[in-house]
Amino acid sequence: MYKKILETAAWIKERMPNKPLTAIILGTGLGRLSEKIDKTLCIPYSSIPNFPVSTVEGHSGQLIFGKLGGKDIMAMDGRFHYYEGYNMKEVTFPIRVMYELGIKTLFVSNAAGGTNPSFRIGDIMIITDHINYMPENPLHGPNIPTGPRFPDMGEVYDPELVDLADAIASENKMKLKHGVYLATQGPTYETPSEYRMFAHWGADAVGMSTVPEVIVAHHCGMRCFGVSIITDLGVNGKIVKVTHEDVQKAANEAQPRMAALMEEMIRRS
Ligand code: HPA
Repeated sequence: MYKKILETAAWIKERMPNKPLTAIILGTGLGRLSEKIDKTLCIPYSSIPNFPVSTVEGHSGQLIFGKLGGKDIMAMDGRFHYYEGYNMKEVTFPIRVMYELGIKTLFVSNAAGGTNPSFRIGDIMIITDHINYMPENPLHGPNIPTGPRFPDMGEVYDPELVDLADAIASENKMKLKHGVYLATQGPTYETPSEYRMFAHWGADAVGMSTVPEVIVAHHCGMRCFGVSIITDLGVNGKIVKVTHEDVQKAANEAQPRMAALMEEMIRRS
């Protein structure tokens, strides 16, 4: 696996027009941010050696290099989900490659169901911590020596970046929530009992991504910042039927706010 990571990184390095220190995973709710990137190079995943190919609707699957918020950045337009059938090594492969390319800070977004009763559909939640409820840890197996065998997880989401988000939000009179994101393997949304259990465990929102990538990024010493768009509510009395279309619709409505926040975060971080 490590050999493949190095091979892919070397292939990209030969083509990379700049040397970004910041990477973004354009998950649900951040697709629109890609329009704001002053792009110098887009590489479809299908042409990158060893790269998995994204299949899920709403994710196009390319690596973007360019400028955003005055900074050189690289962005993953489309990510790999465990529920699509990829294993954890595949899901997190791009993060390992990013590390080899010199990335120091990772910005991630996702759509999530709110389990906190004070949340509303369309809220933007800054992820302050996570619960890994996926069936496998992406660090399972021989340790890749970017970090220790048993990594500390006390402060995975960079507190300075959380403070920066709060400062930007208050300057722009934008309301942000803070909360704990719990990741399931999906692809099922939750039963009412599961939402209730996750809330009891301390989760404010539940989704099907992000945690594997963040665990690996943290193991690589990257600063991590994550945001969830609350697209539906798993709160007693407010549970309605959820469809992928509803999730996309709620995420699309929050996109302009989310994109503005991320661009400013990148400008100032
Ligand atoms: N559960 C899990 N994943 C999700 C949800 C949810 O309610 N909403 C958007 N992604």
